[in-house]
Amino acid sequence: MNFECALRYHGDYEWQEPKSDDEVVNVIFINKDGKRIPIRGKIGDNLLYLGHRYGIEIEGACEASLACSTCHVYVKENYLDKLPEPKEEEEDQLDLAPFLKSNSRLGCQIILKKDLEGAEFALPQATRNYYVDGHKPTPH
Ligand code: FES
Repeated sequence: MNFECALRYHGDYEWQEPKSDDEVVNVIFINKDGKRIPIRGKIGDNLLYLGHRYGIEIEGACEASLACSTCHVYVKENYLDKLPEPKEEEEDQLDLAPFLKSNSRLGCQIILKKDLEGAEFALPQATRNYYVDGHKPTPH
């Protein structure tokens, strides 16, 4: 499965175990309360869906379609330049994100690769959900 497919399946790929140690990419999430949660990911995992698999409080309201900023994470500085440059749509969403910092990225746009081994991703204190706020389902 290539990376684009992994995105399309909305997290199915992230539920698969690495096939070999060569594929493993260990990362650390840092929760809102500062708790560090080590996670054994693999090459090609989408950080948002990997976080969901392990119960990390990263929302991802728009399912990685670059229409929200609820997957906002802070990337440990020395890993920032290992990520591809953000697309314009990502920059636009980040501009709307509360608690924006220079190391802010959208988690759903981060695909694990070997040189992200040891990377740390901290969750902001809060995210604002413009996407869902504009698409509220009617209550039952
Ligand atoms: S989940 Fe909405 S932009 Fe990442």
